[in-house]
Parts: sequence; C-alpha cells; structure tokens
Amino acid sequence: MSGTSAPPGVIWLGTNTCDGNIISTLNTYEPSLQKLVQDFDIYYAAFIMAAEGEKATEAWRLPQVQRGDFILVVEGSVPTAYQGKTAIVGQVQGQKVTALELVQELGALARWVVAAGACASFGGPYSAHPNPTGGKAVSKVLDRPVINVPGCPVNPRWILETLYYLKEKGTPDLDPLGRPRFLFRDTVHSRCQYLPLFEAGVFVRELGQQGCTYLLGCKGPSTRADCPVRFWNDEKSAWNVSVNSICIGCTSPEFPDQVAPFFKHETDLYIKPRRINLDTLALGTALFTLAGIGAHLTGKLLTGRIKPNVKALGKGAKTLLPTLKKKLR
Ligand code: SF4
Ligand code: F3S
Repeated sequence: MSGTSAPPGVIWLGTNTCDGNIISTLNTYEPSLQKLVQDFDIYYAAFIMAAEGEKATEAWRLPQVQRGDFILVVEGSVPTAYQGKTAIVGQVQGQKVTALELVQELGALARWVVAAGACASFGGPYSAHPNPTGGKAVSKVLDRPVINVPGCPVNPRWILETLYYLKEKGTPDLDPLGRPRFLFRDTVHSRCQYLPLFEAGVFVRELGQQGCTYLLGCKGPSTRADCPVRFWNDEKSAWNVSVNSICIGCTSPEFPDQVAPFFKHETDLYIKPRRINLDTLALGTALFTLAGIGAHLTGKLLTGRIKPNVKALGKGAKTLLPTLKKKLR
C-alpha cells in the first residue's frame, strides 16, 4: 500500500466501546475531516457511512478486503466470554457476527491492524475489573503484530498521524508495548510546563489551583504521551494539567484499574489481583521484624546464652517505643 497513489482502504470497527475514539477522531482539525476522507478510502466506519445493516457489512467482504489491501482500525476491547456473544457487531447473510469473529477474520487479512484508544490497545475501561465480558486487548486475540495507539479517548492527531505514517512511510518504529515511538517516547512529566515546580518540590494542594498536581494524583511521571506539547481541540495550550487537573495515565497499560483512584497520590503497590498499600506493607514489615527480634531474644534467654538485664531492657524499651510509635503513625 505504501508508495501507491491510490488512497488506502480503512475499516474502522467498533467492538465493546463507548465510541469515544471515533468521536474524538471526527473532531480532527488538522487534517480536516474532508481531507481525511479524500486521503483514505473508508470502506466501513459506522459513524460516517450512509449504508446500514447488511448493505453496510458487505464492505467486510469487498475483494480489496479479501486481498488484504486495507488498514483495520479497531476501537474497544474484544469480549471473549460467552463465545464473544456479548458484542454482536453485525449480520452477514442473516448470520450474526461477533466482534471476536470479525476482528480475527479481518485481522488475519489486513495489511496493518491498529488499535485505537485504551480499550483496544490494552483492555482499558471495557476490560476493567470485574470484566464480566472477558474483554481483551486486540493484540490478545490476534496472532500478529498490532500497532497500539492508546488514550481515553485517543487524541485525533495520534491516530491520524499513525494512519498517515502507514500510508506514506509504512510501519513506524514501535516501543515494546506496540506504540509508535514518535508519539509515545517521552513521559508526560518530562515535557510538562510544571516540571520546574515539581523539581523545586512546590505542589498544589487543591484541585483548581494552578501548578504541579503530583500530590493530587497526577500520573504524568509514569505515563508516556506528548500531551503537554500536542494539546487538544485546536487549543494551543489545552491539556489536562494546563486546565488545572491531572494526568490519569490513560495511555498506559495500567489504565484504569492500576491507576485508580485517579485523584489520589498513590503509594500503593499493585500485584495482580491485589493492591497493597505501602504504608500497610511498611507496618507489616516492621511488626514482622520486631516479632523476629523478639523470638531470637526469647530463644537466647531460654537457652541461657544471654542473661536478662531487666534494668537495661526497661531503659531500652522506654527509648525505643516512642520512636516506633512515631514511625508507625
Ligand atoms: Fe509531572 Fe504532573 Fe507535576 Fe506536570 S503536573 S510536573 S506531569 S507530576
Ligand atoms: Fe491521557 Fe495523561 Fe494525556 S490522562 S490525555 S496521557 S495527560
């Protein structure tokens, strides 16, 4: 497809999704929507096609599609429980087709498969705990590489720059999570306008205040995306932190289960399926160490290897206890 003058074909398929990614993409301002539909041959995209029902799903069987001459864009996670029957995406010759069947069928044919948004890329909100539909990321139901363009929703320019890159240059360099490096190389934090405040240890304490929101739960330090320089909605400065909120880590595979609660400075350790609070862990470790010291001491006393010096012990306990209490508070 690369290097040809014919516009590449695109099938945009929504699975278990809120459709936020196509809505976001249709809000594109650069390129315009008009340019987008001129530069790509959109075979199927429920939000912008005129056809309905089986007239629309005929696009899945086009000869170009059978030849693999198209880019498959999937938004949403793919339900795998109940044989995938919690997401019927259409009907062909009277037969209902599940998202799982269609993603696997078209995914095996397509020149490239692109996951648009958090759910398709890593599972996202539609695979969040308790995940009754057994939703999975697209890469987990296909036996081939998938280009992940996460975000909740995806920034229109992330997904469109990826599509234009495929059209003009071919496969971009991907990071180990399958994300194009040219979009997701740096952390949000490293390009944030409040980085100098972070480094100076100056933080805002309440939402609505302007400044570094690290203590309010900002996940910018562990999230890779170019939001501080990319912006949203044709605004030259609008992104989560610049409008006095936080980064909730929507482009990372940990989103949302492992970054929630969003508006909380997290000290928790997430070891699937449990979250362990580090303060509790520290208390547990301290108690365990104390119990160890106690057992060791008792053993020595019982075996007569040390003689009890009650006076010294009492003095030691008097100094140690207030310090311990303070630390464990
Ligand atoms: Fe980093 Fe967030 Fe603070 Fe910006 S607001 S410097 S991204 S912690
Ligand atoms: Fe998402 Fe954080 Fe950007 S929440 S949109 S990666 S600032």
